[in-house]
Amino acid sequence: MTESGERSAPSIGVFDSGLGGLTVAREIMRNLPMENIVYFGDTARVPYGSKSRQTVERYSRQIVRFLKTQNIKAIAVACNTATAAAFDAIKEEAGDIPVIGVIDPGARVACRETKNGRIGVIATRATISSNAYADAIHATRPEVSVIGKACPLLVPLVEEGWIHDPITDEVLLRYLDELLENDIDTLILGCTHYPLLRSTIRRLVGEQIRLVNPAYETAQDLAVLLQEKGIANTVPRQPDEPHPYRFFVSDEPERFAEFANSILPIDVSSARIVQIDEY
Ligand code: DGL
Repeated sequence: MTESGERSAPSIGVFDSGLGGLTVAREIMRNLPMENIVYFGDTARVPYGSKSRQTVERYSRQIVRFLKTQNIKAIAVACNTATAAAFDAIKEEAGDIPVIGVIDPGARVACRETKNGRIGVIATRATISSNAYADAIHATRPEVSVIGKACPLLVPLVEEGWIHDPITDEVLLRYLDELLENDIDTLILGCTHYPLLRSTIRRLVGEQIRLVNPAYETAQDLAVLLQEKGIANTVPRQPDEPHPYRFFVSDEPERFAEFANSILPIDVSSARIVQIDEY
């Protein structure tokens, strides 16, 4: 497939602090193949995980304002940190446009999966310190223990492509040790980049621990949301039609396209630059 021009049906706006949110976009593409997507990655200002709530809110509001210029009908916040720190601000900025984040869907699966009531969460510093996953879990299952661990070194390791590397194993083991000592039986991969480490994490923690990738459930929830609102696209794409996805970044479009091509089942020839701080 080749890169699309414009398709007229409104799109799903998907955004992230950078490249990692493509793991969420990938699930939306798989689950909702008839939907158009506009993806924005804030590659100039990544990472969000080490920034304050106020800053993440300000950045997220700017992105929503930009997405609203792109004929969107719903927003999926792919970034765990933006969902954790700025969800209310994002919804406020979105106005009538429905918004979905990754935390409630991820928390719900973990609640369903845990047998011993001990759930681990790995995520950025900002996500862990917001307590957003623990709050979402406790809203339905207050008796469950949630053990959070901030893993700031994992995003750079993934972006460096060190997925299968002894150094990444070592770092992961250091982070996971405390969670394993706490006898967790379920682990939420609470950051966009961590699903790319899934097989490494699986090898390190063994088969007994359930690994939750919030992106799967988010895509399912998005399908339900579009149905409920009566805004799902029902027109199938023709085999010879170009893919209906547009990609925007705030910096380094070539690097983005390279990463996108390594994880998406489509050909991303380019991404367009947006001066996001002008929104
Ligand atoms: N996208 C972020 C998240 O899911 C990870 C990268 C960052 O720190 O910005 O939390």
